Amino acid sequence: MDTRIIVVTSGKGGVGKTTVTANLSACLAKQGYSVVAVDADIGLRNLDVVMGLENRIVYNLVDVVENACKLQQALVRDKRVDNLYLLPAAQTRTKDAVTPDQMRFLCDSLRGSFDFVLIDSPAGIESGFRNAALCADEALVVATPEVSSVRDADRIIGLLEADGKNTINLIVNRFRQKMVDKGNMLDVNDVSEVLAVKIIGVVPEDDSVVISSNKGEPLSLGLQSPAAKAFKDITDRLLGKDVPLSLPQGEQGRGFLAGLMRMLRL
Ligand SMILES: Nc1ncnc2c1ncn2[C@@H]1O[C@H](COP(=O)(O)OP(=O)(O)OP(=O)(O)O)[C@@H](O)[C@H]1O
Ligand SMILES: [Mg+2]
Repeated sequence: MDTRIIVVTSGKGGVGKTTVTANLSACLAKQGYSVVAVDADIGLRNLDVVMGLENRIVYNLVDVVENACKLQQALVRDKRVDNLYLLPAAQTRTKDAVTPDQMRFLCDSLRGSFDFVLIDSPAGIESGFRNAALCADEALVVATPEVSSVRDADRIIGLLEADGKNTINLIVNRFRQKMVDKGNMLDVNDVSEVLAVKIIGVVPEDDSVVISSNKGEPLSLGLQSPAAKAFKDITDRLLGKDVPLSLPQGEQGRGFLAGLMRMLRL
């Protein structure tokens, strides 16, 4: 089995990495692929809650790499959809609990057993991010249309490229057309132009995301909403389907782009 290992990362915190990991994992599994969502945010685990699997955790990623349990014992199977698993992070350890060699060993153990391994990265550019990205074949960089998020995404993309990752796609999350129209937010084309990577999807700001996270029910398993449609489209594009991307256009976004380019010295 050819396994695709994809790291979901961002640089800036709180932009939607965990949301994207949970929703894309569920969407892929719903389409019949075997998927494991790996929470690499050691010490700040969240993916279990967003996926609604927190009550069934026995072992975690650190237990696996320390040989305190077998990989199969730590995988939490989602009962709502076949072939969806979570490998939870440890809650009471820190990012230093996992070494690059241990992470490589873990990825080697997962490779070949699943169609997709989606790794939820911690924020930042330190060891936690580096471990999460270490053995990924591809990266999904999540950014919101804010200058600070785009700047951090730019830094992350540079690090990923320096590491030899050549499949890097961008997800613009929490997009608000009304703010773009008023000239108060970067438009999607601006973000894409500055970061010079392919946009694989735009997820709108949508209350259904918060509701589904609080319920522990990824959107593809429940609520119908604009964000649910966006995650389905991203999944299809990941699978190589030709789903046109309708990039929302802002009227006044260009001024923001000029300012942003200056800031990033591009
Ligand atoms: N498209 C969206 N619409 C509305 N709310 C969203 C959207 N995407 C994410 N959120 C909310 O934003 C918050 C942060 O999301 P999330 O936890 O996925 O970010 P993160 O990048 O994983 O954060 P961290 O860096 O802390 O791990 C959550 O409360 C989530 O429900
Ligand atoms: Mg997170």
